Amino acid sequence: MNVLVIGSGGREHALVWKLAQSPRVKRIYCTPGNPGIAGLALPFPAESGNFPRLIAEARHLEIDLTVVGPEGPLAAGIVDAFREAGLAIFGPTRRAAELEWSKAFAKDFMKRHSIPSALYRTFHPGEAGQTQAYIGSCPLPLVIKADGLAAGKGVVVCQTRDEAVRALEEISDPSSFGSAGSTVVVEEFMNGEEASVFAVTDGSHFVTLAPAQDHKRVFDGDRGKNTGGMGAYAPAPCVTPSLLSTIEERIIVPTLRGMAEEGRAYTGCLYAGLMLTAEGPKVVEYNCRFGDPETQVVLPLYEGDLAELLGASASGSLEAPRTPYAARGSAVCVVLASGGYPGRYETGKTITLPGNDETPRGVVLFHAGTGRGPDGSLVTAGGRVMGVTAVRPDEGMASAIAAAYEAAGKISFEGMHFRRDIGARAVAKPFGIK
Ligand code: AMP
Ligand code: GLY
Repeated sequence: MNVLVIGSGGREHALVWKLAQSPRVKRIYCTPGNPGIAGLALPFPAESGNFPRLIAEARHLEIDLTVVGPEGPLAAGIVDAFREAGLAIFGPTRRAAELEWSKAFAKDFMKRHSIPSALYRTFHPGEAGQTQAYIGSCPLPLVIKADGLAAGKGVVVCQTRDEAVRALEEISDPSSFGSAGSTVVVEEFMNGEEASVFAVTDGSHFVTLAPAQDHKRVFDGDRGKNTGGMGAYAPAPCVTPSLLSTIEERIIVPTLRGMAEEGRAYTGCLYAGLMLTAEGPKVVEYNCRFGDPETQVVLPLYEGDLAELLGASASGSLEAPRTPYAARGSAVCVVLASGGYPGRYETGKTITLPGNDETPRGVVLFHAGTGRGPDGSLVTAGGRVMGVTAVRPDEGMASAIAAAYEAAGKISFEGMHFRRDIGARAVAKPFGIK
């Protein structure tokens, strides 16, 4: 089969890398792609935002399956457009993707279907007075969220009421979040460890991939600002096999059932961002796509054929649930970021990479924000530049961590920074031990 992947980050590089291992895949295309993806996929002659052109070229190049990486095209209805044209595509429709593009919708949906999540109130534009009054009365800490898509930055955890008022002003300011911040959700703070669980689904059946943990804060010890994700590891030992069953039963199954009942059958990857609280797992947020950087550690541990899995999701022919990931193995991804990220940063810095024989065994360099300079050399082109991912199919986390950091130490560019504690929590608590 011929596959088209849409997107340009570390997640898409991991998708292309895994799809390339499938014996059923003949040709892989990617748009817009990046220099790392270019070694594995052919360039596609249509821009990722132009659906009519994408559809025409997908027909012309006999694409059998299109796989959408980021949320933007999903929220804009790419799946609806491809399906109307009779083309197979992996991802949810615009109405199903509302689980991610409207936090207010997601919260109301969870309430309707008794899916565990934080208590909340939603405030619409023009309700600033009520919002302020509510913030003045509810327990601290509290969490303020912009309703719409805000690239992971529309959420503020507030320890004091002053902080909450400032966060509300910032989120409601059209110059910071545009229409994404005009409706806000104020919710209860949940305590616990966070985990990401991905369920690939055709709307009724699903396959759960290895539970992962992201590292959202910029500095070691989970300090500093929130980022798109500074690293990840899988499987996350805090999600024991029995807890994963509970998550499937209380969260994944009722979500898929509820969406189907509401006429928004959910297909693609359902990303459940979870808080493992003393009262059990609760949903922090849904995303309507694979997470990044988690995908860079989750896909290498998947033991099945990814093209077959994503194709079955798109065509509605997924088999009964199973857990086909290397539970005994481990994978760690350390994100190398540009100086200043998640704030302002410069791009165009030359990247020095180790030679193939200097890269430790089982390490893959997934490109995220890379580009080509005027002389063709590899340069930085984004905040998160590269995911250094070490995979150990039969070994524990310590070995994967050591390999990832050994490789990271051989990469350099001006201003580069990365966290030194990715996966450390998993070593303190080996898999299977509660
Ligand atoms: P979100 O974009 O909704 O995933 O939120 C970003 C981050 O904010 C999450 O990964 C959590 O670390 C934190 N967060 C969001 N909502 C809550 C909550 N209700 N309680 C505690 N932390 C939260
Ligand atoms: N890793 C967080 C996200 O993909 O949204």
